[in-house]
Amino acid sequence: MTGTSHNRVEVLHGVNLDMLGRRDPEHYGGLGLFELETKVKRFGRELDLEVAFFQTNHEGEFVERLHRLPDAADAAIINAGAWTHYSWAIRDALEIAALPTVEVHLSDVGSREEWRHRSVFEGLVVGTVSGKGPDGYREGLEILARELGI
Ligand code: DQA
Repeated sequence: MTGTSHNRVEVLHGVNLDMLGRRDPEHYGGLGLFELETKVKRFGRELDLEVAFFQTNHEGEFVERLHRLPDAADAAIINAGAWTHYSWAIRDALEIAALPTVEVHLSDVGSREEWRHRSVFEGLVVGTVSGKGPDGYREGLEILARELGI
């Protein structure tokens, strides 16, 4: 059933994710952000989840979105881009949001440069999916559907 009040997932995209179509296709594939979001929206429909999206290149805006998130969503997928590896402010804000969250990365961060190996979200998220391209978002949504009892 769609439209129930506990099936809302917000997908939060951070810094440089709006440039997906212009980034290295070896790591990020060929889709632009809008195409990726269209795909993820469809994954959501298939899983009876209502999916909404947010993207910004401004750390403070990302933090403020997280502050307001509990009013708008029941769960979240976060791909914070490079902020993943150093923004303790965003980690704190995610902790304040206190929603079940899955961290998703298009590329396989664990097999790239050393500085991408650490995630500030460690210990806060209910799952991490990395290196599976757009399908990683489907996996993230599946994890959240189970968490939400859908
Ligand atoms: C990314 C991986 C990050 O290391 C990088 O800074 C990004 C995208 C990914 O989706 O693979 O901007 O989060």
